[in-house]
Amino acid sequence: MTFEIENVSKTFVSKDNKEEVYALQDINLTIETGKFVSFVGPSGCGKTTLLRLIEGFENPTEGTIKDDGEIVTEPSSHRGFIFQNYSLFPWLNVMDNVMFGLEIREKPAKENEERAMKYLEAVGLKDSAKKYPHELSGGMKQRVAIIRSIINDSKSLLMDETFSALDVQTKHKLQKQIHEICQRKNKTILFVTHDIDEAVYLSDSIVVLSRRPGRIKKIVDIKLEHPRNRDDPEFKKLVSEITQEIADLEDE
Ligand SMILES: Nc1ncnc2c1ncn2[C@@H]1O[C@H](COP(=O)(O)OP(=O)(O)O)[C@@H](O)[C@H]1O
Ligand SMILES: [Mg+2]
Repeated sequence: MTFEIENVSKTFVSKDNKEEVYALQDINLTIETGKFVSFVGPSGCGKTTLLRLIEGFENPTEGTIKDDGEIVTEPSSHRGFIFQNYSLFPWLNVMDNVMFGLEIREKPAKENEERAMKYLEAVGLKDSAKKYPHELSGGMKQRVAIIRSIINDSKSLLMDETFSALDVQTKHKLQKQIHEICQRKNKTILFVTHDIDEAVYLSDSIVVLSRRPGRIKKIVDIKLEHPRNRDDPEFKKLVSEITQEIADLEDE
């Protein structure tokens, strides 16, 4: 059992009127090791807040979050976090950005570099290994950030709209890769997205959050075989049902 989220609420004090605003209310959820769980819901419903709490960037106002039985109070190297707009180290080239963090592990540099190159090649960045971040497009930078997190072998990966800035082709490629790695290494993935197609393609379960204050509205288990086929009528049906569900929440 990886994550246990128990009675979690989070309030923020708004700057202007000094009122308490509930971002999340009474979230209860268990996420088993090796599962791919997506969080979807209307904009502003607390998806990013929930992910930040699970990482330990912030603490819940009420309730507890446990990672393998330990209460989360601060970020840990057990949990990798990939932001929506990840910034790379501008003074390091692509390869060195990817290798950052691996350096401290005691594997031979050559082995690490070969591994890094394999990943870079898979996302079409082999020829950019020596380039610096200012020479890359936004999508390329994001791919570097993703590879850096994947290669660092944390037990879980928390991703906030990680693929949203990428073109469809790159996105689909990375989705495949993330899924393969997750399966092979039994990684637990917590994935925030507004792209329902992406959520259905990747997830074991999709957690639908209600409008603010975010509560769990519904959990949809996706039992389709992998690799999933976007042309499968069952796939399309799930995408349209969940899309409709969120549209309804937005209208409430
Ligand atoms: N640091 C903060 N201070 C005050 N309000 C915040 C803060 N972070 C988030 N919020 C508020 O909490 C709600 C949920 O935000 P967020 O988690 O970013 O939603 P989502 O990622 O689903 O779009 C929003 O109303 C947002 O304005
Ligand atoms: Mg967000």
